[in-house]
Amino acid sequence: MKSVVRLAIVDPVDATRNSLKNLLLDIDMVWLEAECSRYEFFTDVAMQTQPDIALVSLDADATQGLALIAKLSQELPSCSVLVISSSQEGSLILQAMRNGAKEFLNFPLKLEDFLAALDRIQQSHGGREGKARVRSSQVYSIAGVEGGVGCTALAINIACILAQNAQNSVAILDLDLALGDADVWLDIIPDYTIQDVAENITRLDYSLLKRSLTKHDCGAFLLPCPVQMEDTTAITPDELRRVIALLKATFTHLVIDLSKSYGPLDLAAMDASDAVLLTTQLDLPCLRNVVRLIQFFDLHDGLSEKIRVVVNRLGLEDSQISVSKALETIGREIYWQIPNDYPVMVESRNNGIPLISQAPRAKLTRSVEQLAQSLDRADSLDQEPEERKQKKGLFSFLSSGGSK
Ligand SMILES: Nc1ncnc2c1ncn2[C@@H]1O[C@H](COP(=O)(O)OP(=O)(O)O)[C@@H](O)[C@H]1O
Ligand SMILES: [Mg+2]
Repeated sequence: MKSVVRLAIVDPVDATRNSLKNLLLDIDMVWLEAECSRYEFFTDVAMQTQPDIALVSLDADATQGLALIAKLSQELPSCSVLVISSSQEGSLILQAMRNGAKEFLNFPLKLEDFLAALDRIQQSHGGREGKARVRSSQVYSIAGVEGGVGCTALAINIACILAQNAQNSVAILDLDLALGDADVWLDIIPDYTIQDVAENITRLDYSLLKRSLTKHDCGAFLLPCPVQMEDTTAITPDELRRVIALLKATFTHLVIDLSKSYGPLDLAAMDASDAVLLTTQLDLPCLRNVVRLIQFFDLHDGLSEKIRVVVNRLGLEDSQISVSKALETIGREIYWQIPNDYPVMVESRNNGIPLISQAPRAKLTRSVEQLAQSLDRADSLDQEPEERKQKKGLFSFLSSGGSK
């Protein structure tokens, strides 16, 4: 599923609000952006968080609830208002619709009713007015066949290249939880890491996410791995899925630097990805691992077709296996070949400056640039340009500050 709908709820009654929340938390395509227990505060909450959908429960106070619907429709026309009530009184339904509600649902809410309403809203708004009701976002995971093949180098540089395009907003997620070094490549000293985000996952919203990300000068945002190794226990695949869902709801592109353990977190990340770059070099141990990993990926539904084999450091040594021999060994197309250029790459890393700024004309840089463009082009075919622009605006509040 590529799309996430961001939703905010207002319901002054704790019990019903919690039951709604629990229902919504189970739906993958819904991101619960904010919850509010007071009608009078909700417009501000919605203005700040700009949800796609506002779910307004009328049961606590129908008059206040109806007034809120009118206010939301006026002040936040981009947000679709869904109303929920245990009353089925005709006059109440009529008034709610007149005030601008798009759907009127009955409490207790049934999942299928909610999903059907969501579908109707998307159908009626999809593409019209250039408004992105459901935004789609691209997720690329960078996997490696062993340590040191260049995954972090690729993840960082692809992200920074994508971030050059003013229509994109890009985040990097360092999932190499024990040994990740994406922060070093970007010369960033992070205050927060993915661990902080995961620990606060139940109350995670934009402001918290904003504090957890560090912006690099190139425009990409980094969500780093924990600094201390002992911090690395708590994240579950479910928590990671929700972190990815929020990042997807926010950024046009998410680049994930995977660990080399291929555990549940890496699998969850790959599952959420549109493409997985399986990075290898042209030596025997690496190619053997390509074959092994492809066999392993074949066991997981839908994973195999996302895999793109990327050969890094082409021309490293005379003893390298030839590309044609490699093709024979792995029995699979090679998606991209990146030349070896140690001086340029290592200088870029040591300075914490991405290739695109450090050595824009180098052959290495151009190859990574074309790789990023090729991924992006393949994925942009089904997206409307307007949709991508809308998305960028969402995180524009981050563009001042946070960078280093
Ligand atoms: N195309 C390349 N040419 C030369 N050196 C490279 C290239 N790609 C990566 N490297 C170097 O290889 C080393 C390992 O890269 P890294 O991205 O940290 O690997 P991984 O994240 O897979 O462990 C780094 O020193 C990096 O500078
Ligand atoms: Mg790495």
